[in-house]
Amino acid sequence: MMSTNAGTDLPATFRRLIARKVGPSFRSVAEIEEVPLQQPSSDQVLLKIAYAGVNGGCETFRCRGSSYTPFAANQTAEQFVLGAEASGTVVAVGEGVETLKVGDAVTCSGSGGFAEYILTTSQSCFPVKEASAEAVVLTLSGLTAAVALKATGGPLKAGERALVTAAGGATGHMGVQLALLAGCHVVAVCGSAAKAQRLREMGVHRIINYREGDVGEVLRREYPEGIDVAYEGVGGPLRDAVLDNLSKHGRMLVVGYISEYPHVNPDDGKAEGSRGLPPAHELFWKRQTVHIDDKTIYGNVWSGAKMQEIPAFRRQLFDLYEEGKLQAWVDSRRFHGVEQVSDAIDYMLTGQAVGKVVVSF
Ligand SMILES: NC(=O)c1ccc[n+]([C@@H]2O[C@H](COP(=O)([O-])OP(=O)(O)OC[C@H]3O[C@@H](n4cnc5c(N)ncnc54)[C@H](OP(=O)(O)O)[C@@H]3O)[C@@H](O)[C@H]2O)c1
Repeated sequence: MMSTNAGTDLPATFRRLIARKVGPSFRSVAEIEEVPLQQPSSDQVLLKIAYAGVNGGCETFRCRGSSYTPFAANQTAEQFVLGAEASGTVVAVGEGVETLKVGDAVTCSGSGGFAEYILTTSQSCFPVKEASAEAVVLTLSGLTAAVALKATGGPLKAGERALVTAAGGATGHMGVQLALLAGCHVVAVCGSAAKAQRLREMGVHRIINYREGDVGEVLRREYPEGIDVAYEGVGGPLRDAVLDNLSKHGRMLVVGYISEYPHVNPDDGKAEGSRGLPPAHELFWKRQTVHIDDKTIYGNVWSGAKMQEIPAFRRQLFDLYEEGKLQAWVDSRRFHGVEQVSDAIDYMLTGQAVGKVVVSF
């Protein structure tokens, strides 16, 4: 007997999204594939996926096989699976798996989340109370903020002035809350009244809607001593405005640079550097840390975390959520099944979503 499973109710086949070639966008290469459902071996588990998280920028790089990213090998791959994170229920376990059993709810990260089922290793799974959409929010978007603000650029100190861009988004609203919990004075930058309203309800001290005012000017006027720590995922002129207003020993945590990604910039997401910084794609993907005077710019927020610390950060996040001290926002637009994943990606890339975009299965 190689594995134990939930019995006869498992289908013979399942559907997943794959790409057989690289192309300009997720939609242009994603196709539905129906494949046999395989039983897990040794340390593997089979999950029935409940929700998959949408990371439109990352999936675009994956589908383009952009040469400067870890997805470059996709250019010559016969095929590759799509998606990066999901929540689900264990429906079968390999004989060597001792930490999980059939019926357990988990989240997982790694490739292949846009699927009805996924065969993955038990080590990529994290047990949760419920395979919910909120659990997906915490899995990558939440963890990224925790690593940035507790390890790489942290720990945050009470009273520090913390600024978060894309603050109403998936990882942004996590960064905002971690800064509030640390006792910081929090400045949130966002691009819609709907996001501003939700952030106001969360208790953010100052909200700047960049469509209504000049962020640099507001910061210069209201924060003459500068911002101590910035969690910045937008890039372009907004990153420059924040950088210009960092305090003397300020630190900037670059979580991404979505305004310069390929869905906006046809030159495969490559742009010139500014303010003495290397181009954003180099800063981020080469995980560079740059010092300008006494300021530190962490080009990739994961650079300061030790692998062995990460499970504890994830545990802390889920504990805070379960204690009601942390909200996990799921956008209200509903997407279901492999057929609607491309729509979900396109929607996420419009920048309208409040919180995380998820797809249910
Ligand atoms: N390093 C990592 O491991 C990691 C993990 C997760 C996310 N990220 C990065 O963090 C950033 C935020 O990601 P997220 O998944 O949490 O997304 P998100 O914040 O939910 O959505 C992206 C937000 O960026 C803002 N934005 C500004 N210009 C944009 C443009 N041209 N196209 C699309 N959005 C634009 C929009 O909000 P406003 O208009 O309100 O500003 C939009 O809602 C991205 O750069 C992403 O790649 C990195």
